[in-house]
Amino acid sequence: MAFITGASSGIGMLTAVSLAAAGCKVIATMRNLEKQSALLELAEQRGVANQITCMALDVTNEQQAAQVVQTVINAEGRIDLLVNNAGFAVGGYVEEVPMEAWRSQLETNFFGVVALTRAVIPHMRKQMSGRIINVSSLSGRFGFPGYAPYAASKFAVEGLSEALRHELLPFGIQVVLVEPGAFKTSIWQKGFEQIHTTEHSPYRKGMEAVLRYSRSAAENAPDPQLVANLVVRIANERAPKLRYPIGNGARSALLGKALLPWKWFERIAQRAMR
Ligand SMILES: NC(=O)c1ccc[n+]([C@@H]2O[C@H](COP(=O)([O-])OP(=O)(O)OC[C@H]3O[C@@H](n4cnc5c(N)ncnc54)[C@H](OP(=O)(O)O)[C@@H]3O)[C@@H](O)[C@H]2O)c1
Repeated sequence: MAFITGASSGIGMLTAVSLAAAGCKVIATMRNLEKQSALLELAEQRGVANQITCMALDVTNEQQAAQVVQTVINAEGRIDLLVNNAGFAVGGYVEEVPMEAWRSQLETNFFGVVALTRAVIPHMRKQMSGRIINVSSLSGRFGFPGYAPYAASKFAVEGLSEALRHELLPFGIQVVLVEPGAFKTSIWQKGFEQIHTTEHSPYRKGMEAVLRYSRSAAENAPDPQLVANLVVRIANERAPKLRYPIGNGARSALLGKALLPWKWFERIAQRAMR
């Protein structure tokens, strides 16, 4: 039994259908059930609609998270895989992002993960088995300028997952991080619509460069089905690793960060923002 958050679109939707196609029963949760038609259509096309149950869940609602998990346990008896996927990206320079936007970014991308994970752990612990896949980001390893709130939320997910992996291994539960680079989903457009900046911003030039870079990354980004395939692979691996970076240049960027002096990155980023 697989349980996934944010399954109304993008990586979450494709992962729900791909897990079903691989033989899993799937609880596909989304905050607005009116958006379930895209998922159900795709599931119909792939002949797996009867393996997927959609349920309403806003990951920022801790009480709802606990209730939905309990409902699944009452009906199915177990959850073998939790995919914490729901997320969005707040953009803007630190000084110009209002506190409310910072809080809302962390509420979904970080506290949402904590709430779902805490709700599922007792059941996996009793089973002495389970897998928790947290959809982080390359932004969980690199702080890109103009996206500090998003980076902060994903760095938090990375720290949580490292610690949790140690805590749960003795109970046969593996915690895994999937770290996508840019993939073509609606996260970009949703993000561009809510960039925080001011009329006479001292950061205008930098922010414009960041947006130019982001738009081109989004346009040239690969198919998110690749991430869904990776999640299915991890779900079936006997002994999964902690981290799975994926996407154009993701591995080489991480290798570069590990090996090269920080000053080099600084220079590259400063040059790119001019
Ligand atoms: N695409 C990329 O380039 C990329 C790169 C790195 C990491 N990621 C990560 O991949 C995950 C999926 O993103 P995506 O690219 O597939 O974008 P997406 O198509 O926008 O999907 C995001 C999903 O999260 C849902 N969501 C947002 N806030 C929620 C909340 N409070 N409660 C429940 N669901 C909520 C959205 O629901 P609504 O439809 O209601 O908004 C949507 O279903 C995110 O964690 C994102 O950070 C994406």
